[in-house]
Amino acid sequence: MAGVKLQNIEKRYGDFTAVRDVSLHIAPGEFVTFLGASGSGKTTCLRMIAGFIKPDLGKVLIDEEDVTQVPPHKRNTGMVFQQYALFPHMTVAQNVAFGLKVRRLPRAEVHKRTQQALALVRLEQFADRYPTQLSGGQKQRVALARAVVIGPRVLLLDEPLAALDLKLREELQGEIKRVQQTLGITTVFVTHDQGEALSMSDRVVVMRDGSILQVDTPARLYRHPNCRYVANFVGRTNLLDGIVQEAGDGHFVVNLSDHPGRLVDVRGAQATSFKRGDKCLVAFRPEDGRLQDADRNCISARFDKATYMGSEWMVNLTGADQRLISITLPRSATIPDANAEVAISWLPEQAILLPHEDA
Ligand SMILES: Nc1ncnc2c1ncn2[C@@H]1O[C@H](COP(=O)(O)OP(=O)(O)OP(=O)(O)O)[C@@H](O)[C@H]1O
Ligand SMILES: [Mg+2]
Repeated sequence: MAGVKLQNIEKRYGDFTAVRDVSLHIAPGEFVTFLGASGSGKTTCLRMIAGFIKPDLGKVLIDEEDVTQVPPHKRNTGMVFQQYALFPHMTVAQNVAFGLKVRRLPRAEVHKRTQQALALVRLEQFADRYPTQLSGGQKQRVALARAVVIGPRVLLLDEPLAALDLKLREELQGEIKRVQQTLGITTVFVTHDQGEALSMSDRVVVMRDGSILQVDTPARLYRHPNCRYVANFVGRTNLLDGIVQEAGDGHFVVNLSDHPGRLVDVRGAQATSFKRGDKCLVAFRPEDGRLQDADRNCISARFDKATYMGSEWMVNLTGADQRLISITLPRSATIPDANAEVAISWLPEQAILLPHEDA
């Protein structure tokens, strides 16, 4: 198994910097996802690992070997794209076998490995079909088989599920994960879908404007976003302006600017350090908000509307300064009357403390 290292890589197009000083160590066997909005540099990073794009600065290492100057076909990576990119005039089996034939493997070996790869993605029955005779999900499974059949050191996937509808996407997410774990292969995945990133990855790299904002496990990313952008991009969040009043060891007290006299306790490890007097943001997740009064960690808000989501209610309220506040309530909850003034509270362990301005 091979690890991947990106060392201070940078890619410019003219005077536009598409990827800026990106450094990242991906452990052997790890599943790492680049998550970010359109244009944030995800594909550029992936293509620099594959070798289709050469960085202007920095190094790419695969398995401790500096491959920065090595062409793509000698890096031994397997790639899956958003568009299926199958050869239309070849059957499923021929598509999968292509990379092996190019490598001039013996016919029996090609056959054996093609069968194994098709079995891995559960497409043995489809070996003789042509791509036009397959569904979108089946085509992506062929693309996956074609990528792994050569036994690549690293599997690279660029939004492989973006063209599929939600249900199929979820099915294929499980399929990719199963194949990745069966092979134990180091995998770099690109998506702009935060749910996909959280559910599939060992670690997620959040990108914005060519830079990495945060690299963390899904749980830490959700629980401890390090800035406003990440807090908003990964899941929904409620944000309140405040001033740090007390800063202790993992415990902070914040005075809410738009709710005079209201204090918030924040407990638990925080990525950034704050001192007394700092402007800050306090965030809490919709599912952590309760319709309940409390001395601290509580604001008042006016009820706007509740939307039935099947598994829960999504409740929208207007807080001080006309800010939108969202909380989720169980299906069985009693929904407030229109325009009712209600108290929303949350626990100190659920509060998130963020810098007031993003870097
Ligand atoms: N060949 C190129 N010439 C000029 N600019 C480019 C080129 N390729 C990419 N860019 C720019 O670099 C930035 C990053 O592009 P990239 O394809 O990495 O984004 P992305 O995060 O993959 O976005 P998407 O989610 O839309 O695929 C974009 O602003 C893009 O316009
Ligand atoms: Mg892209």
